[in-house]
Amino acid sequence: MARLTVTGGAGYIGSHTCVELLAAGHEVVVFDDFSNSSRLALDAIRAITGKPLTCVEGDVRAPGDLRALFAAHPSDAVLHFAGLKAVGESVAEPLRYYETNVLGTLRLLEAMATAGTKTLVFSSSATVYGVPERVPVAENAPTAPGNPYGHTKLAVERMLADHWTAQPDWRISVLRYFNPAGAHPTGELGEDPVGVPNNLFPFVAQVAAGRRPAVRIFGDDYDTPDGTCVRDYIHVVDLARGHACALDHLAATPRFATHNLGRGEGSSVLDVLEAFRSASGRPIPHEIAERRAGDLARYYADPAKANRELGWRAERDLAEMCADTWRWQSRHPDGFGR
Ligand code: NAD
Ligand code: WQD
Repeated sequence: MARLTVTGGAGYIGSHTCVELLAAGHEVVVFDDFSNSSRLALDAIRAITGKPLTCVEGDVRAPGDLRALFAAHPSDAVLHFAGLKAVGESVAEPLRYYETNVLGTLRLLEAMATAGTKTLVFSSSATVYGVPERVPVAENAPTAPGNPYGHTKLAVERMLADHWTAQPDWRISVLRYFNPAGAHPTGELGEDPVGVPNNLFPFVAQVAAGRRPAVRIFGDDYDTPDGTCVRDYIHVVDLARGHACALDHLAATPRFATHNLGRGEGSSVLDVLEAFRSASGRPIPHEIAERRAGDLARYYADPAKANRELGWRAERDLAEMCADTWRWQSRHPDGFGR
């Protein structure tokens, strides 16, 4: 049993990870400013696990908030999800992205150092690879992100690597997520976007539910089997389990490690629509629209390093991601009602 701090623990991936960590017997303190989440997510975590969960409201950019957090709740390790994640927004407001993602992580590291907490799991993204030279993409592929959001993730990865070189008694895990999708199988926890969803899965779910008229498929003339873009969708519960495995891996010895968390399988936009139609029993009206700026034709993970070193493997397929997303969408048509 460890005492764990989860920044951004009320958000989509953080909340599912809290469920896995509590189920594994850890004590969890969530640190979140609720700028993109609801306190109701924490109630859902408590209801699903039947375990207590502590919450401290605060901002990762604020040294005083972090000092108060670690003073009140000494911690063995931090899982750092708090951050901004919308690619388009990062193009329009890059400084806000650097402030939250880069400065926020810097402040967190300083506060951890002061508190003597030296174990960190960081939420990175496959976006750090940019246009892949080949697929599947392995961890040693070149990194060249194509937008400010990706630049902030790579900047943090480099900061963490430099910090570890100077302080090799730290234990740092960088997890590069591919495309998270799905929801908790209870239907009580899931992705809760405000306004028009940027990402495919929540958009498709809202179309199936009749909240939006049709999915706009951003391009069907890519060099892919059916012309639509191919991604490595990974169930959020598999992703959450990956964090528990990363913590175990760090427990063995101080290290700095980077792992892809993906299924190693590509699915096209049309594959997702068909799987969702089948899981929901609802028609998914769609139309072909212009390509979206910055979209890459095709990428998916080589998850072999995570399979081998973390003893982790994604177990849930596209059908399960759709079924669980649909259960969450049907039970909570307005998400947590933010
Ligand atoms: P999310 O927005 O649902 O969760 C982020 C959480 O952080 C929210 O609860 C939000 O309120 C909180 N937060 C934001 N700014 C904060 C601040 N300054 N101080 C304290 N809390 C703050 O996002 P998510 O999808 O769960 O993503 C979690 C992490 O994973 C992010 O770092 C994101 O960049 C990364 N990631 C996400 C995806 C994805 O597609 N969802 C893919 C790869 C990587
Ligand atoms: C998936 C596919 C779209 C919406 C983003 C970030 C990435 C990572 C995960 C954080 C693409 C198509 C989408 C729609 C569509 N996030 N699409 N109509 O762009 O692969 O990755 O989220 O780290 O950094 O870039 O995910 O879900 O937006 O799109 O046709 O209404 O669905 O073109 O091919 P993406 P997505």
